[in-house]
Order: sequence, then structure tokens, then C-alpha cells
Amino acid sequence: MQPAPKYLENRARTAIGRAEPSRPLKCILADGLLTPGIRLFDYGCGRGDDLRHLSMLGFEASGWDPVHRPDHEHRSAPVVTIGYVVNVIENPAERQEALRRAWALAEQVLVVSARLTLEAKALRERTDYEDGCLTSRGTFQKFFEQQELRQWIDRTLEANAVPAAPGVFYVFRDEQARTHFLASRYRRRLAAPRLTKSAELFARHEAVLAPLMEFVGERGRLPQDDELANTAELAQVFGSIRKAFRVVLYATDEADWEAVREERGRDLSIYLALSRFEGRPPFGKLPLALQRDVKAFFGNYKQACTEADTLLYSLGQPGTVEEACQNSAVGKLTPTALYIHESALPILSPVLRLYEGCARGYLGRVDGANIIKMHRGEPKISYLNYPDFDNDPHPPLAESLTVHLQTFRVKTRSFGASSNRPILHRKELFISADHPLHAKFSRLTRIEESKGLFDDTSRIGLEEGWNETLAQKGVYLKGHRLLSARG
Ligand SMILES: C[S@@+](CC[C@H](N)C(=O)[O-])C[C@H]1O[C@@H](n2cnc3c(N)ncnc32)[C@H](O)[C@@H]1O
Repeated sequence: MQPAPKYLENRARTAIGRAEPSRPLKCILADGLLTPGIRLFDYGCGRGDDLRHLSMLGFEASGWDPVHRPDHEHRSAPVVTIGYVVNVIENPAERQEALRRAWALAEQVLVVSARLTLEAKALRERTDYEDGCLTSRGTFQKFFEQQELRQWIDRTLEANAVPAAPGVFYVFRDEQARTHFLASRYRRRLAAPRLTKSAELFARHEAVLAPLMEFVGERGRLPQDDELANTAELAQVFGSIRKAFRVVLYATDEADWEAVREERGRDLSIYLALSRFEGRPPFGKLPLALQRDVKAFFGNYKQACTEADTLLYSLGQPGTVEEACQNSAVGKLTPTALYIHESALPILSPVLRLYEGCARGYLGRVDGANIIKMHRGEPKISYLNYPDFDNDPHPPLAESLTVHLQTFRVKTRSFGASSNRPILHRKELFISADHPLHAKFSRLTRIEESKGLFDDTSRIGLEEGWNETLAQKGVYLKGHRLLSARG
């Protein structure tokens, strides 16, 4: 169906110039959906800024737009994007048609993005029109709720979309690829254990053993013969994969590998627990590697699902989240919430990982969020953005996004324009003890405490009170050093 020319002309005005990759493109890159040799096609590419970013990164990408690139051909590709297009189309039938056309081109995954109602408040002037509104520029915008967008995609494509970020969804062509993506989302990124002893045999064959160590570090179990490229070489040198790994165990700390194994088992439990919300796949539909993980960690799928359900059930019991917050080995505990830095997510207890996982399963990745607030009194998770957390000794809060896990209402707040923003203190509490900046942050906290800067906690939470406190004590901050203002 061809849209009326007037609307097309106005829709073209919605295409903005982008200095940085769009949110969906950032998700695609962060989630590793594009690897060298995988092509992308951008359906409704506007001025083509995402295509330029991709070509700078060395990816092959092309796109079509009815106004800005009408002569470019529609091409099928492993990854197809349709970014912020469906929300500018006022005719519901044409909106669905655009989505279906993009889907028809997607060989592996379609990435759909649209604007959300929580962005609508930024528009000052608007008039209701059809199921959306007309902006002061004469363009149409349909703002979606996160769940509404997902359901609309699912209905239109008869698919099962996966939230990648607020307003961004992945639609996988292959169910196993979808499951693989979901399971890997809850897999922690831990480094493989380091060498402890010098072992002559190990040292001689380190290069041959490296892929094996990487595999076990990644999945927490030994590979089967078809899961490693150099199985034959390992068998030739050591006799078997199992014997090869014994050499690795000799040169490294066995307890570290055991910890990796336990953690991978927990990752799998968390994935299986969360998969309950959208219909857990039957065992035979899991990717082969995941089927093997299940057997290695739980013996069978029934046992794996029982353990996952026990974990999920415990989350709904009164006091479970509260107890987990109180006992958490990491995070800053306040009367209302536990706050942690995103880097500490992997070391949270399974209950808290599941608690946060419920929000992530609904929203996907929240761009820029680096502190996660797990509310204690009610089931809510907030994603907070404190720019320059590493370098600013007391970073101010720029924006927050909160999702209520019963109503699934999403709220955002921006503090950008305020001159008196909330700030962070005691940054070491948000990160793990082995974080490279832990010692630096702790040192500053000790000095600030010794100078009495935290004595009046009612004043120091906001920028103005904190700056006044520093001035009263005659000190100022240079990076993470506290200096005397009196010379
Ligand atoms: C908000 S812009 C988004 C452009 C680009 N994808 C981006 O994210 O920067 C919306 C684009 O949708 C295009 N468009 C409008 N109707 C369309 C349709 N039926 N099919 C494909 N694209 C369409 C417009 O020409 C416009 O460039």
C-alpha cells in the first residue's frame, strides 16, 4: 500500500540527523548480533546515519527509505532493522504492512524500535489524531507502551518478540536462536581461572589447551567432541578432552573451576525461572549446547525446571527480597532500597539476580544505566544513570527509569536541568571488592569521614548541601583527592 504523498512528505521530517548510533543499533552491537561478515539492512533508514556508523565500523550495511533513499533496493539480510518508522505511520494497516515487509527481508533477526509513551511528555504541543497525535511540526507520532508494542509486533508477525531495551525488540526467525539469546543474557561474564602453578606439560601445550579453557570458562562444563575445533589435536596430545582438562586443573586452582561450574548452573536456573513467564520451551527445542548444559548441571530437564521454579516461587514469598537485600555481599543498603553498580550484577545472590532479571526481561537493556536500585518496600526496579561514575568522586544523577513489577508501569525522570541533583557518596559500596577502583573509592571515603563531611547526612545528599559542606570544612575535591582550600 502506498501512503498518501502529503503524509510521506511530513513523515520525512521525522528523520533526524544522528551524531551517534541509534539506541537499536547500540543494542545490536552490544548484544553481538552483528559479527564480521553479517550484513544489515535498514528498512526506513531516514538519512542513513546508522548506515554510516556501521560502515565506519567495517560492517556491510545498506538501507531504503521511501523519501530519503527511494531508489535503493530492498535487500534481504541476516539482520534487518526498522527503526522509529512504525510510530510515524498514522494508518494502522500501513503500519502493519511496513512491519511485515521488513520482516520478510530478515533472514535471522528483525530489530523493531518505536517511541514509548514515556517519551511523549517531552512534546509540549500536540493534538490527538487517530491512535496517536500530531506534533507542532505537523508530523504524526504513535507512542506505545512497552507491552503494547511487544503485543502489536507479536500479533502482526505471529512471532514472539524479545525486549532488547525500552522501545526496542528483537524478533528471531529461529526459535533456537531466540532461546540462545535469552539464556546468554543471564550468563555472567567471568574470566577463566588464572594459572597458579607452573606446570611443564601445561606450558608446553598452552596454545592447544586455550580453546578448552575458554569453553569451560564460558559454559562451566567439559565440551563434547563436536563443540571444540581442535578436539582431534587434544586427543592426539593428551588422549582425550577429559585428560587434557586434568592438565589444566593441575596448573590452575580447581576450586575456581568449581565456582565457575556452580555459577553457570545458577545462570541457567535464572534463565529457566524467567522463561516461565513466556512459556518455557520443551527440552527438544533448546539449542543443543543448552540441552547439554542442563544434563551436565542438573541431570535432566525436569530437575532443572524444578530448581528454577523453587527459586521463582521463593521470590514471591513475603520477606525473600527483603532478606536477600539485607544479606547482600555487595551494594549500598538504604531504608528503602539496595543500590548496586551494574558491574556487580553478576555477584548478586540468585534471588536478587532474578528480581532484577524480571525487570530486564520486560525492558531489556536500559541505555546509560549504571546503578540499579532494587526497591525493598514494593516490587520495583530503577535504572539510574550517573554519568562518569568512575571519574567523578560524587557523580550526580542524570536520569532514572523505574518499572513496577506488578503493574509494569514505567516512569522516567530527568534531572539534567536541575542545579541541585542527587549525588553519590561512598562509591565503593556499589561495586565488588575486587573491582579495580575499589581501593581508590574507599580511600576517599575514609578521608571524607575523617574530615566529618558525612556527619550531617540530611544535607549531603544533594549537590547544593554537599558543596556547602565542603566549603564549610574548608576543603575541595580534585578528582578523588580531597585538598585544603586554605592552602
Ligand atoms: C523517525 S524516522 C527514522 C529514521 C531512521 N530509521 C532512524 O532511526 O534514524 C522515520 C522514517 O520512516 C520513513 N517512513 C515513513 N513511512 C514509511 C513506510 N511506509 N515504510 C518505510 N519507511 C517509512 C520516513 O521516510 C522516515 O525517514
